Amino acid sequence: MPAPIAALLRSIAQRLAAAGVPDPLVDAELLLGHIRGMSRGEVQAAAVRGDALAEEDAAALAQLVERRIGHEPLQHLTGSAPFRHLQLAVGPGVFVPRPETEQVAQFAIDALLNAPDAAPIGIDLGTGSGAIALAMATEVPHARIFAAELSPEAHAWAARNTVSAENVTLVQADLAEAFAELDGQAAVVISNPPYVPDDAIPRDPEVRLFDPALALYGGPDGLDVVRVLSRRALALLRPGGTLVIEHGELQGAAIRALLADDGWRAAATHPDLTHRDRATTALRP
Ligand SMILES: C[S@@+](CC[C@H](N)C(=O)[O-])C[C@H]1O[C@@H](n2cnc3c(N)ncnc32)[C@H](O)[C@@H]1O
Repeated sequence: MPAPIAALLRSIAQRLAAAGVPDPLVDAELLLGHIRGMSRGEVQAAAVRGDALAEEDAAALAQLVERRIGHEPLQHLTGSAPFRHLQLAVGPGVFVPRPETEQVAQFAIDALLNAPDAAPIGIDLGTGSGAIALAMATEVPHARIFAAELSPEAHAWAARNTVSAENVTLVQADLAEAFAELDGQAAVVISNPPYVPDDAIPRDPEVRLFDPALALYGGPDGLDVVRVLSRRALALLRPGGTLVIEHGELQGAAIRALLADDGWRAAATHPDLTHRDRATTALRP
């Protein structure tokens, strides 16, 4: 029997709330919209109109709701995550791009836009879904973008997302040695590396259970990959080139200190819209 959408949304939201899902009604609307190919607004309109959901759609929705109750990220269930003006394909094996990274990417985009070259080179190290690389490639279309990802699973998602971006070159490689052929030529290197200290296990089950460990953990102080990144970016960038690093809100001072030790200049940490220090930039001497 068809199920009234309004009542269905209410009961799903109640079950998600009981499981501790943070935005239960939003998730209920987005999951139903995913099943029916409708936007959230269209779902809300259908609920107000008194529309009903066909039995087979309700059964498919029930399966997704069970997975969400198990804290599988909403984006894994819908297969899609927003990032700036993009919709990226995501799923098991890849880090779900976060809103805070949208702001970090702006530093790299601005630096590329200000670069004097006809075709400035931007490099995204640890590209995950390809979010930052694709944002740079589409928002600075005259740039040439290079992206490296170590994990084969994440690399496959990035390949899917960047397949039709003609100015993106994607490789599966360790950022410690990626793109040696570009040494001394890049205008911008950006990375959102794994930076969680090994013993700071994230509280959110969506993160703890479903983001890949390789995407999260960065050694005892969280900065193991940042140390490697600093050295690799020094080699990749041309003099005056810009390094952009996303990091945890308490890591700015330690990152500025390690960048200064490596010889970077003008290291500066920037707060996000919630006043948390989430990005550090520096210039290649
Ligand atoms: C925090 S995630 C960020 C992903 C993506 N850049 C974003 O912002 O959504 C870190 C990414 O770095 C990758 N990674 C970790 N260590 C790496 C290494 N040594 N070389 C290349 N990629 C690495 C992880 O697999 C993961 O995809």
